[in-house]
Amino acid sequence: AYTAEPFVPSRGGLPALRRAAADCRGCPLHRDATQTVFGAGSTDARVMLVGEQPGDQEDRQGKPFVGPAGKLLDRALAEAGVDPGEVYVTNAVKHFKFTRAEPRKRRIHKAPSLRETTACAPWLAAELAVVEPELIVVLGATAGKALLGSSFRVTQVRGTVLEEEIHGRPERLVPTVHPSAVLRADDREAAYRGLVADLRTAADTLG
Ligand code: URA
Ligand code: SF4
Repeated sequence: AYTAEPFVPSRGGLPALRRAAADCRGCPLHRDATQTVFGAGSTDARVMLVGEQPGDQEDRQGKPFVGPAGKLLDRALAEAGVDPGEVYVTNAVKHFKFTRAEPRKRRIHKAPSLRETTACAPWLAAELAVVEPELIVVLGATAGKALLGSSFRVTQVRGTVLEEEIHGRPERLVPTVHPSAVLRADDREAAYRGLVADLRTAADTLG
């Protein structure tokens, strides 16, 4: 089975993890992507935000949530009163997966498979073990399934505080929609307000 496990160092904190992840070949996604997009933020972050996978801009720049979805997320976090200095942002999958309608055309985001998400999970587990956030904000279905299993349904639990054991430790989580889903929504304003409301629940939980 595909797995990142043999690439994950057991010591050295975030810098060692980031360096090792750059050379991960745990699944085929490293082949077509530009680079590994590892998580960003402080080891002391109180909140960990978990997205799906890097997009086109993230793949080029090597940083999570720097494209359109990231811009929207930053705005929503500010509005919800979450301090950007207290946040660690990462993704369930660390390489960009895409297709092209035609050769040399624009790269179109493709959802990662369960096999790829499972392969990449050791990186997220290692980030959680090192950062030890007080709260995890789950952004959308892929992150939810990666952390909570395949029965996760974002519509059923969004905006609530869950307490679950994840990779052997008790975690508090607030699930919400993915910022890309807000960008695609028919009623974008309502979807955005929903995201901000859920992030406010996260902010209130942190106190
Ligand atoms: N969408 C994600 O899930 N993660 C990113 O880093 C960018 C877009
Ligand atoms: Fe490794 Fe994850 Fe990239 Fe696959 S997606 S090669 S498991 S870092």
